[in-house]
Amino acid sequence: MSELERRLGRRFARFTTNVVVSHPRFWRLLRPLTRYQFDRLAPQWTSMRSGDAFAPLDQALDTLPSEPKRVLDLGTGTGLAAFAIARRFPTASVVGSDIAEEMIAEARGATPPELAERVRFEVADAAHLPFAAGSFDLVSLANMIPFFDELARVTAPGGYVLFSFSGGPETPIWVPPERLRQELGERGFTDFADFQTGAGTAFLARRGDRQ
Ligand SMILES: C[S@@+](CC[C@H](N)C(=O)[O-])C[C@H]1O[C@@H](n2cnc3c(N)ncnc32)[C@H](O)[C@@H]1O
Repeated sequence: MSELERRLGRRFARFTTNVVVSHPRFWRLLRPLTRYQFDRLAPQWTSMRSGDAFAPLDQALDTLPSEPKRVLDLGTGTGLAAFAIARRFPTASVVGSDIAEEMIAEARGATPPELAERVRFEVADAAHLPFAAGSFDLVSLANMIPFFDELARVTAPGGYVLFSFSGGPETPIWVPPERLRQELGERGFTDFADFQTGAGTAFLARRGDRQ
């Protein structure tokens, strides 16, 4: 993939994020190109990640009051955040989901044997997730476009959602923290917390106790 193509891809990702956060119904129009873009990127994706890409995610995980048992990593890409979370919480089962089949194929191929019993990957659209309400104690989104209604639906009462953006506001897929507060607050989330490590940022929220 050429540098020009990558640059256009980053612009498209930012455009798509802004449109979908404000008007989720337009996702169906943007979905095919988004999936195509990430299918194309899949073979190089892991090598494009910097060593500290998940530092803010790590920082936020440090503050969780207890170990989550059921974790969903949305827009998992090649599964790097899913692996990091599974390593950190040795009793957790982790599902990584992504719309890009090539990303999921890479993630499956990269799964370390010692995690294979606890980490699995599924092709799924975060706008219409194939999971029952309240299925997860922690839902992570690393550099991923949020679909707030589905996010709220699959997070268990008292569970957490964790956003991380490897390059902070410079990340192509980025949602300002005030927007996250607003959208999540409207859906019963509380206990908002912001994190920053280097250029990266993260945002943690807890779902209220009632379904
Ligand atoms: C910027 S990449 C981040 C990948 C990984 N989380 C990371 O940080 O390395 C965004 C990923 O989200 C996926 N994605 C975008 N929209 C999605 C959706 N509606 N449902 C599931 N995955 C989606 C893309 O296919 C891509 O793999």
